[in-house]
Amino acid sequence: MHKEKSIKVDAAPRSTKNAEVVRRVFVKSYGCQMNVYDSQRIADLAGREGYEETCNVENADLVVLNTCHIRERASEKIFSELGKISQRKNARARAGRETTIVVAGCVAQAEGAEIIRRQPAVDVVVGPQNYHRLPQLLAERRRSRAAAVDTDFPVEDKFAHLPASAPEAIRARGPAAFVAAQEGCDKFCSFCVVPYTRGGETSRPVAKVLAEIESLARAGVVEITLIGQNVNAYHGAKPNGGEASLAELIAAAAEIPGVRRLRYATSHPNDMNDELIDAHRDVEALAPYLHLPIQSGSDRVLAAMRRRHDARRYLDLVRRARRARPDIALSSDFIVGFPGESEADFEATLAVAREVGFASFYAFKYSPRPGTPAAEMAGQVGEATKAERLARLQALLEAQRFAFNRRQVGRRFDVLFDKPGRRAGQILGRSPYMQSVFAEGGPELIGAMATVEIVAAGPISLTGRLVAPASRETSLIGRFGGRSPI
Ligand code: SAH
Ligand code: SF4
Ligand code: F3S
Repeated sequence: MHKEKSIKVDAAPRSTKNAEVVRRVFVKSYGCQMNVYDSQRIADLAGREGYEETCNVENADLVVLNTCHIRERASEKIFSELGKISQRKNARARAGRETTIVVAGCVAQAEGAEIIRRQPAVDVVVGPQNYHRLPQLLAERRRSRAAAVDTDFPVEDKFAHLPASAPEAIRARGPAAFVAAQEGCDKFCSFCVVPYTRGGETSRPVAKVLAEIESLARAGVVEITLIGQNVNAYHGAKPNGGEASLAELIAAAAEIPGVRRLRYATSHPNDMNDELIDAHRDVEALAPYLHLPIQSGSDRVLAAMRRRHDARRYLDLVRRARRARPDIALSSDFIVGFPGESEADFEATLAVAREVGFASFYAFKYSPRPGTPAAEMAGQVGEATKAERLARLQALLEAQRFAFNRRQVGRRFDVLFDKPGRRAGQILGRSPYMQSVFAEGGPELIGAMATVEIVAAGPISLTGRLVAPASRETSLIGRFGGRSPI
C-alpha cells in the first residue's frame, strides 16, 4: 500500500491578487494512434479553457487519462494508475490545491459509471465520441457534488466542436502528425471491443480532413498519417457531392504544399482495393509501408474470428502490393491462442508469416473481452500455450525484421528526424519504411527531412550517415528553434 504521507505537494500560491494562477492539464494516452490524436484534441480543448499543458502529473490541476480497453492488461493498468493519482489528489487537497480527474477513451466508454464505483476520486468519465463536451462536464462537476458521466453516442459531430490546434502546440508536437479521417468500426470481429467502444464507422468530409492537414503543414508539419480504426474503409463526402475513397484523399493530401510524406493506418484486408494499392506506385509522397493486420494464418481461425477473408486473399494482397511498389515494407497484427486454435492452426500462422516476410509486427496473446462473442467460445487456450506460441511467433518475426533491416545497409533514403538520439551529437528519425534511424547530427536538424545512407542495421533500428543536408525548402530549422520538439 502507498503511504499517503510520503507524497509532497507544493502549497497553494498565497496571493492570487496580482499573479494569475496558472492551471495545468496533464493528458496521458494509452492504446492506439487514435487515442494519441484524441489526447491532443483534449489538450487543445483544455488550452481554450485556460489550461497550460504539462508533462508532469505532479503539477497538474486537471489529470486526463485517455484509456484503452483492447486487452485486459491495458484496461486494468488504468485502475492501478488511478489509485496513484487519487492519492496525489488527496495530498494536494491537504495542501489546499484541487485536482480534477477525468477518465476518457475506450475504458470510459465500456465501463461508464462503474469506474466511479471502483475509484470514487474520479470526477468525470467521458467516452471517445463525447470529449468535445468536456468543458460542460467539468462545469457540471463543479456545480454538483456528483461525478459527471457521459458515454452516450451523440448525434452531433464532435469535430465541429473542437478547437483548431494552435500553431505553437503543433510545433511542440513535432514534424509528424496524425489526422483522423475515419473512426469506428462495423465489422464486429468476434474478439474485438472497438465497435462497442468507438461506435459505428464514420468518415470525416474530405474538406475537413484537408483543411486540418493544411493548417498542420502551415505550422511546419511535413509528415501526415491519416488514421482510423479501419482507415481504408474511408468514404468521406466530397465538396461537390459523392464520396471519396482513401486513395482519392491521399492523392488530394499529397498536393498540399509542405506535405512531404503520407501514411495511413490501420487497414483491414477486405477494404484494400486496387486503387489504394496503385497509390503506392503513383503517389510519390505515400510512404512504402503497409500495416495490414492478418491476426491468424489459419482459415478456420479466421472464420471463427469473423475476419471474413482467408489466408489466400491476404497473400494475394501482399503480392499485389509488392507488384505496385516492390520495396514496400509490410507489417501486421497477430493474435495467438484464439479459442480453438490448435497447433496446426498456429503453424499455419507461422507459414503465412514465412511466406510474406514482414518488416515489422505486433503480436498479442488472445485476451477475452467482456461482451465479445469469442470470450464465450469453447476451447479457450491455456496461458502456457499462449505464451509458448507467442514466443515462437515473435522469434520468427524478429528474425524477419532484422533481415529487413540488414537489407537496408548501403541504401540511401530520406529520414525525418524528430528527436535527439541516445547520446549527445546524435539524432533519431524514421525511415520511409518506419524503422528508427540514428545518425550523427546536431539538434538543428530535428524537424528536418534529410538524405541518409544506412551504414549499419540492428534488430530494431538502423544507423545512418547524413549524405545530403536538408534543403532549405525542406528543413524546419528555425521553425522548431533548433530544439527538440518532443
Ligand atoms: N482495425 C484493426 C485493428 C484494431 S485493434 C484491424 O481490423 O485489423 C488492434 C489490434 O489489437 C488488432 O489488430 C488485434 O491484433 C489486437 N486485438 C484486438 N482485440 C484483441 C484481443 N481481444 N486480444 C488480443 N489482441 C487483440
Ligand atoms: Fe476490431 Fe475487427 Fe473492427 Fe479491427 S475490423 S477494429 S479488429 S472489429
Ligand atoms: Fe484501444 Fe480504443 Fe484504440 S480500445 S486500441 S484506444 S480504439
